[in-house]
Amino acid sequence: MTILDGTATARRIREEIAAQTEKMVQQGRRRPHLAAVLVGHDGGSETYVANKVRACKECGFDSTLVQFENNVTEKELLAAIDCLNKDDAIDGFIVQLPLPLHIEERRIIEAIDYRKDVDGFHPVNVGRLAAGLHCFASATPRGILELLRRYDIRTRGQHVVILGRSNIVGKPLAVLMMQKSYADATVTVCHSHTVGLRDICRSADILVAAIGQPHFVTQDMVKPGAVVVDVGTTRVPDAVSPRGYHLEGDIDFERVAPRCSYITPVPGGVGPMTIAMLMQNTLAAAQGEYY
Ligand code: GUN
Repeated sequence: MTILDGTATARRIREEIAAQTEKMVQQGRRRPHLAAVLVGHDGGSETYVANKVRACKECGFDSTLVQFENNVTEKELLAAIDCLNKDDAIDGFIVQLPLPLHIEERRIIEAIDYRKDVDGFHPVNVGRLAAGLHCFASATPRGILELLRRYDIRTRGQHVVILGRSNIVGKPLAVLMMQKSYADATVTVCHSHTVGLRDICRSADILVAAIGQPHFVTQDMVKPGAVVVDVGTTRVPDAVSPRGYHLEGDIDFERVAPRCSYITPVPGGVGPMTIAMLMQNTLAAAQGEYY
């Protein structure tokens, strides 16, 4: 069994991006610039955004953090998005999700100029991805595929089972996995109402869990020799940890890992790869790669 080291792989990718940034700067172009919009004080979101800002520094990018309190109105948020859309110094930006319940997430995402939508959440990018056209693709699915690619793990013709159908992970991952020019795999997407879930999971050559329920995937759901990817990052209260919590994935790692050929850890698997892919999307935005 081999651990898929997302931390080390993401570090290498950030170094590659930093080298490309310096090349751009030497050619007299300005550094890529990512902005992040953060609403409220959700611990997970604050950490993710801080990690994204740190990754920008490591890649030689400029970054801007736009922060609002929890009681921000939809109108105020839309005005901030309008400013970022119009600001020529900003190559791309993200609005960290989830947003407070009084704000309609779809309306915010649709207000982002799709040419700056480095998260790949805007319907134009979602649609172009589904059609197999050039576009910004969601960072977590791209991170998973890049991790598999860098470990030379075959996807062509393999049965990929995805647990979870979210707009951020499950759906775009299914699209990328089935695309001939990308992973060329055979894909099954499962969810909370799937009948015969255990047997479907057991038929997976590559099993991806993205449901946010610690220890959901047990040993009996995994075929011996399978590749297992854990997207879950649930904060579980932990009095012993200095932070007061620890992260748990969706996989019962202790029991599942010995059965696998490859497995991602939590933390240190998919998480850092997601941020590295956001940096790649930002570089692509600065280079006008898609639009
Ligand atoms: N919340 C959880 N994952 C993500 C992500 O990839 N992007 C944004 N904007 N919010 C998230």
